[in-house]
This record gives sequence, C-alpha cells and structure tokens, in this order.
Amino acid sequence: MSLKKINPTKTKTWKLLEDHFSKINSAEIKDLIKTNSSNNYKISWENFIVDISKNRLDDKALSLLFQLARECDIEGAILKQFNGEVINETENRAVLHTAIRTDGNEKILLDNNDLVPSIIQTRRKIQEFTDNVISEKIKGSANKAFTDIVNIGIGGSDLGPVMVVEALKHYSSRLKTHFVSNVDGDHVLEVLKDLNPETTLFVIVSKTFTTQETISNASTIKNWLVSSLGEESIIKHFAAVSTNQKEIQNFGINPDFVFPMNDWVGGRFSLWSSVGLSISLAVGYENFEKLLLGANKMDKHFRTSSLEKNIPIVLSLISIWYNNFFKCETEAVIPYTQYLSRLPAYLQQAIMESNGKSVDRSGKKIPYQTGSIVWGDTGTNSQHAFFQLIHQGTKLIPCDFIGFNKPLYKNNTQHDKLMSNFFAQTEALMMGKTKLEVENELTNSGFSKENLTFLTPFKVFEGNKPTNTLLINKLTPENLGSLIAMYEHKIFVQGVIWNIFSYDQWGVELGKQLASKVLKEIENKSIGNHDPSTEFLLNEYLSKN
Ligand code: F6P
Repeated sequence: MSLKKINPTKTKTWKLLEDHFSKINSAEIKDLIKTNSSNNYKISWENFIVDISKNRLDDKALSLLFQLARECDIEGAILKQFNGEVINETENRAVLHTAIRTDGNEKILLDNNDLVPSIIQTRRKIQEFTDNVISEKIKGSANKAFTDIVNIGIGGSDLGPVMVVEALKHYSSRLKTHFVSNVDGDHVLEVLKDLNPETTLFVIVSKTFTTQETISNASTIKNWLVSSLGEESIIKHFAAVSTNQKEIQNFGINPDFVFPMNDWVGGRFSLWSSVGLSISLAVGYENFEKLLLGANKMDKHFRTSSLEKNIPIVLSLISIWYNNFFKCETEAVIPYTQYLSRLPAYLQQAIMESNGKSVDRSGKKIPYQTGSIVWGDTGTNSQHAFFQLIHQGTKLIPCDFIGFNKPLYKNNTQHDKLMSNFFAQTEALMMGKTKLEVENELTNSGFSKENLTFLTPFKVFEGNKPTNTLLINKLTPENLGSLIAMYEHKIFVQGVIWNIFSYDQWGVELGKQLASKVLKEIENKSIGNHDPSTEFLLNEYLSKN
C-alpha cells in the first residue's frame, strides 16, 4: 500500500495554522517561553535532552502542528515504512534501512520472507572480515599487514562512512582510513601519494558499480596497485560492497571479500549496511554494532512514542512551521564538537536529495515550499564565521544546536569553555540586546553622546532567533547512531507531510547524462550542439588541452 496523497495546504489544519500564524508571527520567544507549558517543550529520552522552548511557537501552534501531522496520516505512513510497503513508488521499492539495524529480536517481513537472518549473516561477515584485517590474519599480497584503508565511493557510498569515521575517531582501530570520492583525478592522486600499496586495502562501495566517479577512481587505483605489485595483488587488496555481482567479478575481486547490498536500502540511508564496512574497519566491529543498536533504539522511539514526545516528529514539525509559515529558506545545524565536522555535509545529501522535490505524490507541480536548505559547521568555529548573519542579518535561520555533557578525553580541561559558548549562543539568539541595554553599556564605557548615538543601532541585537537544543550525554557510537537515525526520521516525516516521495532522486540524472555526452565530445575533440555559452566554454577548454 502506498502513502496517502494528501495536499497539506488543503487540510483543515493548514488553514487553522495560517490563521494562528498571523496572530503570533511577531511574538517574542522570550515572552512565549514564560507562558508556554514548559512540559510540552522538553523531551528527555535515553541519553538525549531535546529542548524546543526557544522557538517562535506557542501551545496552540504546537498542538495544531501535531493535528496537521495526524491529518496527513503520519501514523499510517510510519507503519507502512516499517512494514516494508512499497512507499518509494517511483522506484517501486520498499524502504527498509531500519531493518539493517535490527536488534535481531524481531521478524521483518518483505514479500513474506523474514529479512533478519540474512541481515545477521551479513553482519557476521563484516565482523569476521574486520577482525581478520585488524588482527593481521588477512594480509596484502606481499604478506604484510594492512595499515591503511581507502573507501572508494561517492554520495551515500561516501558521505555516511566519512562522517561517522570522523565522528568516532576517538574509538579508532589501528587502521588509518582514507576516502576517495570525487572524479577529480587530483583527489585520488593526492590520497595515493602517501600510501604504501603493500599495506593498503581498498574498499569499493557502489550500489550500482556503474557510478562514473567510483569506477574511474577504482580503475586508477587498480592500475597504481598493479604497476607496483602485479595483477595477482588485486585479489588481496580490493573488497567491494555492491548489488552488481557481474561487475564485481569483472573487476577481479575475491568473492570472499564481496559484501551485499539490498535494493530496499537507499544510498543516503545505507551507512548501516555493508556500506559501513569502512566504519567497521576504522573503529572495530563492536563499535559499528553499537552504532546500529543506537539507531535501532531511535527507531523504536520513533515508532512507539506519542507524537507529542516523539523527537523526530517534533523536530520536523518545527522545521515545517519555519519553512512554510515563516518562509525560512534554510536551517543550520551547529554541533559543538569537532568530531561532528562532517555532519552538515552528510545531512545536506540526506535532507536535500530526499526532500528537494517540486512534484507531489500525485505527479502534480507543488505550489508550496518543500525541502529546506541545510548548512552549518561546528561551534565554536562557526561563531567566528557566519554567526554574524544569524544574529544580525536580514534572514531568519532556525538552528539545531547539538552539544554533549561529557568530553571524550578525561584530561580535556576546556569542555566548560566549549559548552558555555553552546548555552550562551542560544540564549543570546533568543534574548538579543535592546537599544536601552546598548545605550547603558556605551554610557558606562564612557562613550560621548555623539558616538553613542552613532554606534547604538549597530550594536543592537533584535533577538527572537529560534533554536532547538540537543543535549546528549556523550559522543558514543550508540548515541551517534541515535542522532543520525533521528535526522533520517525527521526527513521522512517532512516528506510525508509535504506529500512528496523522499526516497527517490531523479534530480541527479540529467547532469550525469549530459556529462557523459560532453565527455565523448571532448575525447573526440568535436563539440556538438549546445547553447552558445556552453559551446564557447567547451571550445575554450579544447583549445587549452
Ligand atoms: O547522488 C546520487 C546517488 O545515486 C546517491 O543516491 C548514491 O548514494 C550515489 O549516487 C552513489 O551511487 P552508487 O552507490 O550506486 O555508486
């Protein structure tokens, strides 16, 4: 059964939300926070505290948003996704990335087959391979232990693993992990430059095994390897994660080093599958499994909590409130840990490839806004970069602040400093600084009347900038798994309400098709029919090559 096709803007609740929005759109968070029933604005779950009280919301808006979710059949949609219904209609697929992080105590049926045994079997294969590489049982062709792993993949076959490996660096195994993604040959050569072929294991990750970037990089690497270790080294130095058995075989990969993928797991939701092989190698299988179990806990929370206490649902409704009523175009994610520096880039694919759609589930052009633009960087670096615009710019940018109670190093003496910034920024964004406060401050600092009058408007902070605060106990593999799964479910809920298909990505095809046509023209040194600008640029390029 497919997802219902409900235009959210035609629901009864949407109209009520519009009416209510017109009444409260200029209300101040600092006033709302005093009158709102605080219990509705805090969720405490496992190692997470989610505080949504610094938002331009009141109790009525919040309850209408839940009503909207119900009217758009969010509860039915969640059941359909977890039950393996074909909710990715344009690709005729079920969406079951949640199945691959099962705790093993359930049956997950797809076409009457229980998926769990094969999922566990794949996990055992990942575990055995990881243990054997780390313990030096599996070695390279020169009989030397592997010291370095290179993940070759792009999009979902890169962004998830690279983000998690960086996030869990503290838990690293003895292996060093590198990532090659871009078809830019300089990228692959830069990575290879410091590697010893005798001690490097390459993991090719490509669901299709036809992606231009990945296959080009894999071929370049294969030539590099063969030129120093000979043809017979291929079988020892490459592993592959893919659904395309034929191409894997053609590449010459050892069948024992091949890991399966399933078509019911989309690329950007696949880090939990064999795509996470590099993660397992980088941090050890036990930590990889903890990551999966953390995600599984969030899945259970998402499936069973009431809408009002359901973290992904609450966050997605707040985001819809800003996107569709306040007309915010973007939202920022600011993790207060350097380990999560790749989270914004990962979320960009997850969110924007999923919900960047302008046709609804009935195939009609959408007259309202869908997927928001997500961006961000770590605190406190971002405070010294783009926070000026968030505090005093003309745009309203809701932010998620993610912080941790505990640092990872026992001898880290700076954590209070980091966290004081974390707390202070959300307070400053909400409270701002009034004209009177600025004037008093300048008077007390001895400014002349004339200078004070000139400077005051530049130093005023309007405030009323919304934030969600996620305070997590510690950056462990388990909590990271829960955090990522939380954002995955947020994406799904928004897609359901916006009446779009979140699990396809037709928008990436056109550019790919054109690029292969252009490549042939460049190789043949004969430019075909293009618009005048492209034709000029291509001729310019050819004249220099
Ligand atoms: O960017 C488009 C996309 O199809 C992603 O969804 C996917 O993660 C990526 O390309 C890589 O595809 P593959 O794993 O088949 O190489």
